[in-house]
Amino acid sequence: MNINIAILASGSGSNAERIIEYFSERKDIHFPLIITNKVDAYVRIRAEKLGIPSVFLSKTEICQTDALLQLLKDNNIDWLILAGFLLLIPPQIIQAFPNRIINIHPALLPKYGGKGMYGMRVHEAVIANHEAESGISIHYVNEHYDEGNIIIQAKCKIDKNDTAEDLAKKIHLLEYEYFPKTIEELIIKN
Ligand code: GAR
Repeated sequence: MNINIAILASGSGSNAERIIEYFSERKDIHFPLIITNKVDAYVRIRAEKLGIPSVFLSKTEICQTDALLQLLKDNNIDWLILAGFLLLIPPQIIQAFPNRIINIHPALLPKYGGKGMYGMRVHEAVIANHEAESGISIHYVNEHYDEGNIIIQAKCKIDKNDTAEDLAKKIHLLEYEYFPKTIEELIIKN
């Protein structure tokens, strides 16, 4: 059976690239497109290098029209993977893809989640609170930011002198290790 995955990303897209590389040998798993809400996001350069079309949809198009749903239908998408995608997913998309939308969050939810908590902001808050550990949460997406059921979490230690940038590097390593294989396990099971 062929599976079509759409990746949604707003920024650099390093996770998107790792995921696509991880599945590159699989003939049954396809990435027809990467969708972004930032016209100049670096993920679009990565997409071009990987030979995958990237499609820009504005926040208004995503949140107030059915452009995203139509695009997903036109490309026969089965799964949505949010890899650094910063907009709330509209309810009609969640209803159309029940338990088929997966997000990665760079902290141990429910801590350090919610609206406005993304990327470096998360790591800065974790460091400011002198946490001894942080980690990643891979979870299903529902109508609220970072509140869907958690699929897996993985942790890393924070050293006393770690900066937010140091923590970001540790978190990215965890993401590269866990995100692609977790997606693979979910696809196989479902
Ligand atoms: C990742 O660390 C991801 O967990 C985070 O954005 C980064 C994207 O990096 N996502 C969020 O903060 C979502 N709330 P990348 O563009 O290099 O993959």
